[in-house]
Amino acid sequence: MTMNKLDKFDLPSLDEARKRKKERFKVRKDLFKIPDLAKDIGKGRHYYLRTYGCQANVRDSENIAGILKELGYDETLDLNNADLILLNTCAVRQNAEEKVLGEIGNLKKLKRQNPELIISLCGCMAQEEGIVKTILRKYPQVDLIFGTHNIYHLPELLYRTMLEKERVVEVFSKPGEIIEDLPSKRFTPFKAWVNIMYGCDKFCSYCIVPYTRGQERSRDMEDILKEIKDLIAEGYKEVCLLGQNVNAYGKDLGMEEGFATLLEAVAKTGIKRIRFMTSHPYNFTDHAIEIMGQYQNIMPYVHLPLQSGSDTILKKMNRRYTSEDYKVLFDKLKKAIPGCAFTTDIIVGFPNESDEDFLKTLEMVDYCKYDNAFTFIYSRREGTPAASMEDTIAPEVKEKRLAILNKKVGEYAHLANERFLDQVVEVLVDGPSKKDPSVFSGYTKENKLVNFKGEGVKCGDIVKVKIVATKSFSLDGNLLKE
Ligand code: 5AD
Ligand code: SF4
Repeated sequence: MTMNKLDKFDLPSLDEARKRKKERFKVRKDLFKIPDLAKDIGKGRHYYLRTYGCQANVRDSENIAGILKELGYDETLDLNNADLILLNTCAVRQNAEEKVLGEIGNLKKLKRQNPELIISLCGCMAQEEGIVKTILRKYPQVDLIFGTHNIYHLPELLYRTMLEKERVVEVFSKPGEIIEDLPSKRFTPFKAWVNIMYGCDKFCSYCIVPYTRGQERSRDMEDILKEIKDLIAEGYKEVCLLGQNVNAYGKDLGMEEGFATLLEAVAKTGIKRIRFMTSHPYNFTDHAIEIMGQYQNIMPYVHLPLQSGSDTILKKMNRRYTSEDYKVLFDKLKKAIPGCAFTTDIIVGFPNESDEDFLKTLEMVDYCKYDNAFTFIYSRREGTPAASMEDTIAPEVKEKRLAILNKKVGEYAHLANERFLDQVVEVLVDGPSKKDPSVFSGYTKENKLVNFKGEGVKCGDIVKVKIVATKSFSLDGNLLKE
């Protein structure tokens, strides 16, 4: 395919995606429609949906699955049985993107066997101009590409793909409205993801998310609370409030203490367990900490991305806090919420990170003694400010730093779990283990995975378990009889 052939497609633009508008986003409750022609297009057909990346994608996939169900599709977990394959992708790091491209390569033979098969790429990779061009040029097996802001159009897009027998690309570079009326098929009973806001305006210099997910926009509090009250009525025990930076909730609605206000209102619904992610240290207010300390149903667990312990690197990352600011916040949380568990995200090998910078990161890990940390080697993302920073650090040095960091993280993870030995913890039961149906698993308030033996336990129960052994990333226990 030549360049000219690409001209007929409306390609996404990261430059457009960077722009922010002043006006508030409209809330729409009447946008999702199934055109008459698309009704029942899924009848007798099966879809296979694979989700990569973060919880925002998982929640989007629940909406996609909900839409497909309304179109008459059934789900299949077998690629060979699928009439429609959707890959809901992540763009945060290059290696994840390479995996997806490899996966699409593997799908070529299925397409050869079944020319009617529709292969679709959606999610954050679809928002990248470079990726869309690569797919259009080199992966003819992909029939439909749609962006993170285009999910509500899926019925029409699928219909067009089937009818026109041409490749369909629809990716809006920027979000239009807050869409409240999408169908949804929740993947887990008892635990629900609840979006409280979309997008991100932080523009950390390494991160593609503010471009792929667009401007920060908060859902109305009434809509969030209604969703949670409905979930309670359906028997849900836990909600996780989702946003790229939940602490900025309500800023676009003119609320000063939006997140604290929302958190308190959610706590008052009486739902058994409340979690939230992800937090940004810059917007975490004292009032939000106070609310966390006041309500027993707000879980004592915070995922608080550090990214780096070096002030020089934090500045280049545009993180808007120093290592001292982070420590002060960490200490406040620890004091206000006894027994609080902490996890974090750390990037090593940011352009020109020196040995001293890296040592500062290790020092912070020693200070915070995290329950766990998600660690990454910096990945250059085209279109972000960090992509144009010169970098002279060898890849082997970065690998070595990651290994040193991971060893330390593992040690503290084990140590953090040891505090639970011989303790009685409350576990929300996810279900029996696949290998041994007499072993159940679930999570403690602190978000620790527990495997335990027990009888008469159901998925969704909250039970007491005595911990008898600890590992680095899980706990073993026995069910206590009430
Ligand atoms: N390279 C490596 N890690 C990244 N993250 C975000 N962007 C990049 C990047 N370009 C990490 C951050 C973030 C987590 C979700 O992914 O640590 O908190
Ligand atoms: Fe990316 Fe920073 Fe926004 Fe998180 S806060 S999504 S790391 S830009």
